[in-house]
Amino acid sequence: MHEKMTEEEFAPILPGPGESDYERYLRTDELLALQKTPEEMAHRDELLFQTTHQSSELWLKLACYEVETATAHVRAGELAAAIRLLRRATACIELITTQIHMLEHMSPWEYQEVRRVLGHGSGFDSPGFNAVRRVTPPLGEAFHELVRGEGLTVVELYRRGREFEELYGLAELLIEWDERITLWRAHHFKLVERIIGGEVVGTQGTPVEVLGNLVAKSRFPELWRARNELTALAQLED
Ligand code: HEM
Repeated sequence: MHEKMTEEEFAPILPGPGESDYERYLRTDELLALQKTPEEMAHRDELLFQTTHQSSELWLKLACYEVETATAHVRAGELAAAIRLLRRATACIELITTQIHMLEHMSPWEYQEVRRVLGHGSGFDSPGFNAVRRVTPPLGEAFHELVRGEGLTVVELYRRGREFEELYGLAELLIEWDERITLWRAHHFKLVERIIGGEVVGTQGTPVEVLGNLVAKSRFPELWRARNELTALAQLED
């Protein structure tokens, strides 16, 4: 009697497909149907390839969602709230950087079988990375507006960091966001070199060396330049 009551008590209450509320809430039926079945695969490593890419897309979706809200907080002068979300967003990029190495479990020769079924699929069409490109500039603009509003330059902010603790913290998170993206690119570049080589072209005709050049690109150059200026200023004061 007691057992039956417990069973009923914990019966699923959410709408949608799935035996349990876990499956219904997380929509696991749909999620787990998003990868090729063994019968559909050209090579068994397609599951590894799809899992790594699909989960990267999810983490990038979350990262950009947090950056957009953080930008709204910066505009409203709510720096602590922005800082909290930017920490989470940078952690997302760290996660996808770590997991990219899962693809090094594929043999370069066997990957050629996977590559044949990718069509013209290219990372340049990654919705997650295109979102990174979209949400990053407004974050930079909102930050610079605040710095200007305080009557400061970035260099002055760094020199007087203790007087502007939160704004300084925000500046450091912007540089961290930028740095984490660069580090992802560096790891991705080495992965690509390791799997298909550094002197070949990608599925959309892009030479792999272009990926190497992208590693040097930064989204917040003023924040990096400020370091040079601080070093020059310190030398003047010596
Ligand atoms: C075996 C694994 C991989 C190979 C061989 C590979 C190869 C390439 C190549 C050759 C390009 C240049 C564009 C092209 O012609 O396609 C590229 C770009 C790109 N790939 Fe991958 N990739 C791999 C894994 C990944 C993963 C796991 C992601 C995660 C989302 C990813 C995201 C990107 C992005 C965002 C770009 C655009 C370049 C950038 O903005 O830095 N790739 N990839």
